[in-house]
Amino acid sequence: MKTAIVFATKHGCTENCSETLANELNTGAELINLETAKEIDLNQYDLVILGGSIHAGMINKTIKKFIDKNLNQLLEKKLGLFLCCMEEGEKAQEQFNNAYPEKLRNIAKANGFFGGAFDFEKMNFIERAIIKKIANIEESFSKINIQSIKTFASEISK
Ligand SMILES: Cc1cc2nc3c(=O)[nH]c(=O)nc-3n(C[C@H](O)[C@H](O)[C@H](O)COP(=O)(O)O)c2cc1C
Repeated sequence: MKTAIVFATKHGCTENCSETLANELNTGAELINLETAKEIDLNQYDLVILGGSIHAGMINKTIKKFIDKNLNQLLEKKLGLFLCCMEEGEKAQEQFNNAYPEKLRNIAKANGFFGGAFDFEKMNFIERAIIKKIANIEESFSKINIQSIKTFASEISK
């Protein structure tokens, strides 16, 4: 099954999670970074996994645009959806529901919450100030959920 993991990332966390997921899938999944990819031909893939991250409550614009442009084709694929974010529980679910259209959520074979990371070295001045104030932390911090990535990989492989 030819697989693409199509992702967008701001500070690299979603890219890290996409790489970990590709390793877990063990099927030679192709990693497609929407920030750098040119034309993407979805015709060649049977399984498409979309991954994005949340900043100020919203998923990356490039993922939104990609979904809008390719919605009909995505609806015909075996599909997986995942999110990197720091919120958990109901709030994370709410962000997920806002991030991915209902039509896609309904057909997705696996939905994943992979946790997230605050990387102070990659944040700009304003982001650093926001995170210091809101999260009350001063240093980089990761809570990527490896178990959740493994569970997602096994669900989507069924
Ligand atoms: C400025 C900023 C705003 C953020 N806003 C949210 C948010 O509203 N909700 C949330 O769950 N996580 C939020 N996060 C956490 C990110 O989702 C988390 O850092 C994620 O790992 C980023 O992934 P990326 O590096 O692939 O973009 C925010 C992070 C930053 C730096």
